[in-house]
Amino acid sequence: MKTSDIILKKQNNEKLEYKEIEYMVNSYVKDKISDKTMSDFIWAIYNNGLSIEETYYLTDVMIKSGEVIDLSEIKKPIVDKHSTGGVGDKITLIVSPIVAASGVCVPKMSGRGLGLTGGTVDKLESITGYKLNLTKKQFIESLKTVGCAVISQSEKIAVADKKIYALRNEIGAVDSIPLIASSIMSKKIASGSDVIIIDLKVGQGAFMKNIKDATSLAKTMVKIGKYYNKKVICTLSDMNIPLGSNIGNALEVKEAIDFFDNKYDKRLYELSVYISSLMISSAKKISMSNAKNLVINLIESGHAKNKFYEWIKNQGGNIKNLKDKAKKYIVISEKSGYINKIDSLKLSELVFNLGSGRVKKTDKIDYACGVVLNKKIGQKVLKGEILGVIYYNKKVENMDKEFIDAFTIEKKKKKVKKIIIKTIK
Ligand code: URA
Repeated sequence: MKTSDIILKKQNNEKLEYKEIEYMVNSYVKDKISDKTMSDFIWAIYNNGLSIEETYYLTDVMIKSGEVIDLSEIKKPIVDKHSTGGVGDKITLIVSPIVAASGVCVPKMSGRGLGLTGGTVDKLESITGYKLNLTKKQFIESLKTVGCAVISQSEKIAVADKKIYALRNEIGAVDSIPLIASSIMSKKIASGSDVIIIDLKVGQGAFMKNIKDATSLAKTMVKIGKYYNKKVICTLSDMNIPLGSNIGNALEVKEAIDFFDNKYDKRLYELSVYISSLMISSAKKISMSNAKNLVINLIESGHAKNKFYEWIKNQGGNIKNLKDKAKKYIVISEKSGYINKIDSLKLSELVFNLGSGRVKKTDKIDYACGVVLNKKIGQKVLKGEILGVIYYNKKVENMDKEFIDAFTIEKKKKKVKKIIIKTIK
């Protein structure tokens, strides 16, 4: 087989065979072809797309490039949850203990943040002592005893995806639906759960900017799941507005603690309850309304909160000792009116510049920095009132202005977009 023939075939928009995709991917993993050759292949896919069958081939080859986790010794229902990444997205910290408290296992392998998107691993690393690298035995044991465990993505899973995703990032070829679908699904399927719930973020602060593309990505992932007999459910949720009040690693852990102390942002609560209900309903095979009642009961009775503390302690974390040392800068509103927009992209750029994000995977980050929003979307604010607080160790020029610029404050109140857009099964 010749790589140039395979690339040409895709450039001419012809359908590739399994063995051709396998040859390209495996040759790249084994360093038999250069970044340049692989880039040409990726660009051919980027420009011409892949059929569902070809997307499945790519997913399958990437799964087989690494380990597949066997969770068969866990005798409880198991469900995995994935978020495509949003601003202020601390949902994993909230839904994992809720779902575990219902008797459903949540084995989560999470990633670090890269670019503007934060990663669950970074949030958990802001808890002193929290161990992200459990052995396979410890991981399974935690799932059996506690019911949830969140660890960093194993280097051994979907090895090809790691290399290809890094190259896609480098050459700017991330936003292709078949490439994203195969990348996410290869990791999720190799992680071993039978039910996979995907929170697909849509809007300015997400990599899927519009509902049409997000729907197409969701449908592709659901179809890929069917090849493996896995139940994949995708919820499209709005990411034009940051999720909750806090953005920044330690600050987001604090918001999760607040959630279990019944101090929560309405939109964060709504999405957390919905995703938890979806996870429980599909894993236990009960109706959504029964699952929702159970979720509310677990939150209100304190069972979910106890599970949250049990989980963090089980992984060595001392929740009372967060890496949250930072100075505060209070931002005052310069005008009165209704908050009609909070630009999640602008705020994520600010938080990134404060030191919470990384450009390269190996960059060090500041866990304590970030922002807290004192006012919510749709709320009225008066000139002179506190709009929010910036937590910083390294000042960013004009940071107060950047914070204020993220808010659109107008005389007339506009309708607030719903957080849950639709669910695709
Ligand atoms: N997340 C992934 O894991 N892969 C992509 O391609 C995009 C987002």
